[in-house]
Amino acid sequence: MIPIAEQVAQLREQLESHNYAYYVLDEPSISDAQYDALYRQLIALETEHPELITTESPTQRVGGKVKSGFQEVRHTVPMLSLDNAFSDEELAEFNQRVAARLSKQIPLVYAAEPKMDGLAVNLRYQQGRLVQAATRGDGELGEDVTHNVRTIRAIPLKLCGSGWPDVLEVRGEVFMHKAALDKINQAQLERGDRPFANPRNAAAGSLRQLDPTITAQRPLSFFCYGWGQVSDDFKLPACYSEMLDLLKTWGLPINPLASLVEDQAGLVNYYQDLFALRATLPYEIDGIVYKLDRLEGQQALGFTSKFPRWAIARKFPAQEVWTKLLAIDVQVGRTGALTPVARLEPVLVGGVMVSNATLHNMDEIKRRDVRIGDTVIVRRAGDVIPEVVAPVLSQRPENTALFEMPVACPECGSDVVKELDKAVYCCTGGLFCPAQRKRALAHFVSRKAMDIQGLGEKLIDQLVSAGLVAHPDDFYKLNSDELLQLERMASKSAQKVIDAIDASKSTTLPRFIYALGIPEVGEVTAKNLAQHFKTLDALMQASLKQLLSVADVGEIVAHHLIQFFAQAHNLEVIEGLLSAGVSWPLIETPISSLDSVFSGKTCVLTGSLQQMTREQAKAELENLGAKVSSAISAKTDYLIAGEKAGSKLAKAEVLGVNVLTEAEFIELLGEQLDG
Ligand code: IVH
Repeated sequence: MIPIAEQVAQLREQLESHNYAYYVLDEPSISDAQYDALYRQLIALETEHPELITTESPTQRVGGKVKSGFQEVRHTVPMLSLDNAFSDEELAEFNQRVAARLSKQIPLVYAAEPKMDGLAVNLRYQQGRLVQAATRGDGELGEDVTHNVRTIRAIPLKLCGSGWPDVLEVRGEVFMHKAALDKINQAQLERGDRPFANPRNAAAGSLRQLDPTITAQRPLSFFCYGWGQVSDDFKLPACYSEMLDLLKTWGLPINPLASLVEDQAGLVNYYQDLFALRATLPYEIDGIVYKLDRLEGQQALGFTSKFPRWAIARKFPAQEVWTKLLAIDVQVGRTGALTPVARLEPVLVGGVMVSNATLHNMDEIKRRDVRIGDTVIVRRAGDVIPEVVAPVLSQRPENTALFEMPVACPECGSDVVKELDKAVYCCTGGLFCPAQRKRALAHFVSRKAMDIQGLGEKLIDQLVSAGLVAHPDDFYKLNSDELLQLERMASKSAQKVIDAIDASKSTTLPRFIYALGIPEVGEVTAKNLAQHFKTLDALMQASLKQLLSVADVGEIVAHHLIQFFAQAHNLEVIEGLLSAGVSWPLIETPISSLDSVFSGKTCVLTGSLQQMTREQAKAELENLGAKVSSAISAKTDYLIAGEKAGSKLAKAEVLGVNVLTEAEFIELLGEQLDG
């Protein structure tokens, strides 16, 4: 008789190797029923001998504990996103950019693989054991979804084989097969719940369940396509593809369609092959990802602030479908702009159920001659908001109706005016208009502004309707008794909201400026303004000329700023916020210039900049401690290249000088003042 402990160990090994065959090798070694029988045997033995249960046992994937929320996880290595190419030309440009920057010794070979339509996760293995799984989140901060990821059978709880690093962070996509999604949607409909619009939402919704038993019922899968932190005891191989092979031997599933390609023709062929295969694949893909295979080359190319320079996503074209335009409604934005929104007969576009689409503005409606009752072409390009492209004239019925902008705001009844020289119609209600007020308040609390967590749109709606909040400073006067009067508000959550409001008082000047919601003042402009003026007072007193000397600030933005600070009611709100205790650390010039990535660096400007003058760019750079020179040499640290950059750009590429586009430059400028 084999000892029980050994029987248990054997069963686990068998189950793991069947899992490996199924998920990693894509060659099932037994039937589902046989797998279930082995699994049940293991459960029976473990029930009799609970002392033999370990966390890595295949039976322990579902912890059974319901969580109350998700912990934040700061990624040790940021999880970046990818630059996109929408045409063969853009792909060729990418290939040329890489070739130009790469030393000739490094072969121009790319690892090509399908771009999975799912959710990126980071899996952390320590001593070969899965210790943490986190979503990508904003790339810096994700959510801890370990308990749910453990239920995904394609993800090993412990690595197999040998030679893995002590700490290994594996990255890849959690996704759902089309068939599984159909089945789940069927069940959702039968229960009267809303179906998931696409596999990405299904994967995200399933991973973000507080109860892992629910995730366990959702058949999620996983493909690995990268790594984060890798401990120093391990030497990475020379190529990305070699590392993927290693990850595969350790039990991590790799997409079997991954392949090495070279030359523009090779890149395009792979794309075309996959495009043709797309409909037959068991999962949704939305394009192809190409990554330079040699890691040495990846390192040499580096990253912009958002993307690796050595990889690109070639997106499949936007999908277009026909549907009926049932009505056109008008939505009131934060600054009062009225946007016509098409209400459509619901239709699937590229796997997403679409029932609303933007019509942009009145001019576009006229230009495209879109009428209510028309059959229209709806397009969804990647992650972009769906839009109505045009009416199908051959399908136009007799009784279509022309759309007219309302003369009174549908939310508050105030007059609607058309902005001079612009296609935009605006509600004149200002903060009297509840729609504008609610959106302005939602902007104020949003993540990149004051970051008050737990204050969602619903709660803001309730607070405004109950008359508890009209202006941003009113948030700071709320107490938990007032919150408790609101429907469906428990004392614990009320206290949480109060605590979050309180915590938001210590902020930064860029966040504060951004939170005010001044028209045209986005996150980057707010950072530049803070950087330039250092204090709120200085900004409020600034003249037109002073404002115009700030990077990224043109006539329109400057006028909005002056107008904003000239209004007594805005000053009252600011005063209210400051006296409630909202404050930020002082910005001192020497600190920002010492800490800046530009400090002590030699920079050259070339080409024509669109968002600022050369003088402004130069002043900003000097302010951050850079030396601005006119000639490029091997000693140049950064070339900032505007449009139509010519020989200097070519020379920079030959010399391997870091090149920043204007957008990258502005973003970096903003980042120098940490918001
Ligand atoms: S590589 C630094 N490879 O696409 C490069 N991403 O737009 C990191 N994605 O957040 C990503 N399939 O969610 C990579 N084969 C693949 C992918 C893939 C899907 C997703 C991923 C990422 C997003 C970037």
